[in-house]
Amino acid sequence: MNAPEMVQLDEITDLRRRVLRADDPAAPVIVAEDAIPGCFHLGLRNGQDVIGAVSAFPCPSPDLDHQNPWQFRFMAIDEAFQGQGLGRVLIEELLRILVDRGVTLLWANGRDTALGFYDAIGFTRVPDSAHASPSTGLPHHRIVMELPHDR
Ligand SMILES: CC(C)(COP(=O)(O)OP(=O)(O)OC[C@H]1O[C@@H](n2cnc3c(N)ncnc32)[C@H](O)[C@@H]1OP(=O)(O)O)[C@@H](O)C(=O)NCCC(=O)NCCS
Repeated sequence: MNAPEMVQLDEITDLRRRVLRADDPAAPVIVAEDAIPGCFHLGLRNGQDVIGAVSAFPCPSPDLDHQNPWQFRFMAIDEAFQGQGLGRVLIEELLRILVDRGVTLLWANGRDTALGFYDAIGFTRVPDSAHASPSTGLPHHRIVMELPHDR
């Protein structure tokens, strides 16, 4: 397995569709956030295939006023590779990159089914943030992590 690396949007749309949109051919898998200046996509390859990815971009947190807040979306590990520590590898590399860039807060709308994963990484669940995703209708909570910074 390769280390996490920057990947292109067109390399991860299929993964987004399969893992996060039940392989629905009609589901939009390119969204407005992908066009936010600074947005990047971090991926994990098995050979040439991208088998895990997450996308991050600057965005204010609905919960905490912060100096340099970012959001991530579309966190996905190919089903065949889940439960092997790859999600942790990907998020930990994302955190390292964002700390390097002076980001002070990372947040996301986490699927309720994945909240245990985010707990394990060290995110905090935002109290009273339960909501249904406008994209999928699935139950979510917001999760946040304040990042160390020295400026
Ligand atoms: C959720 C997901 C990203 C996790 O990635 P993964 O590679 O399977 O997770 P890892 O193997 O790195 O797990 C890291 C830790 O989280 C825990 N964990 C992983 N998925 C979990 C889940 N769904 N519920 C509870 N805990 C979970 C693991 O037990 C592990 O704990 P440990 O380090 O204490 O042993 C992945 O399973 C996935 O893509 N799921 C489907 C899509 C999805 O829900 N994406 C998130 C949208 S918000």
